[in-house]
Amino acid sequence: MTAKVLDGKKFAKEIKENLAKEIKELYDSKGIVPGLAVVLAGDDDASQVYVDMKEKACASIGMYSKSFRLPSTVAQSELLDIIDQLNRDDKIHGILIQLPLPEAIDEKVVSNRIHPEKDIDGFHPINNGRLLLGEGDLAPCTPLGIIELIKSTGIEISGKHAVVIGRSNIVGKPTGMLLLKENATVTICHSKTKDLALQLKEADIIVSAVGIPNLVRGYMVKEGAIVIDAGTRVVDNKLVGDVNYTEVEKIASWITPVPGGVGPMTIAMLLRNTFKAALKR
Ligand code: GUN
Repeated sequence: MTAKVLDGKKFAKEIKENLAKEIKELYDSKGIVPGLAVVLAGDDDASQVYVDMKEKACASIGMYSKSFRLPSTVAQSELLDIIDQLNRDDKIHGILIQLPLPEAIDEKVVSNRIHPEKDIDGFHPINNGRLLLGEGDLAPCTPLGIIELIKSTGIEISGKHAVVIGRSNIVGKPTGMLLLKENATVTICHSKTKDLALQLKEADIIVSAVGIPNLVRGYMVKEGAIVIDAGTRVVDNKLVGDVNYTEVEKIASWITPVPGGVGPMTIAMLLRNTFKAALKR
């Protein structure tokens, strides 16, 4: 079997085109322009690139965006003041604090200051709690993108055995919760899992989100599985995932490339979450 490619770039483009239409309709009917605020503190190169991409994506679909680029020496109190101001700003429906933040700043305190209804990253404990309860719709963007990619195969998720590798609060855990909501049987593997290959061999759906290149090898994958690679590691200036693509594409039914798989979907879901937050007001 040669796996079909789950083209996240193409799919994200379609989602953005649809959103652009919906944004125009929202403006025509209610005069509302969805707005996203992006806050970047420090000079992390990757974060600068991500923030630029997010701003461009907003502009490309007619979404308002406002960005704050702060030095790595910014005081936590200043960051909290900016968030308070954005929480009150009627033009802003979503607030994104680009992570990682400088070491002197407590990420939790800052993320938790965002009003849950403007928390389009889905990181706030209220939104995490809602996700755990199978309620609400502001879930983290990468997991939402992963679910969309799996659904786009046309293969029913309900009743399938899904194995998620990684238990981060941003990707692994919420992906597990969303798969459970879709009635998959979910196993979450992590660094203390004794025999990863044994777990993967049972999986109809594999989602890997740890950042260890070459972790998922062909011999570990069940014939016909869907394999989603959400690993992001930069090696020799190139973005590489967790999956050995050359080996796994011969066994899986569907596979995401890196880059061009999960990454573009994350931005599309960020825009969709911001649109949803605007609709609620
Ligand atoms: N840094 C890396 N990924 C993310 C993300 O999804 N959201 C935010 N805010 N920062 C990130």
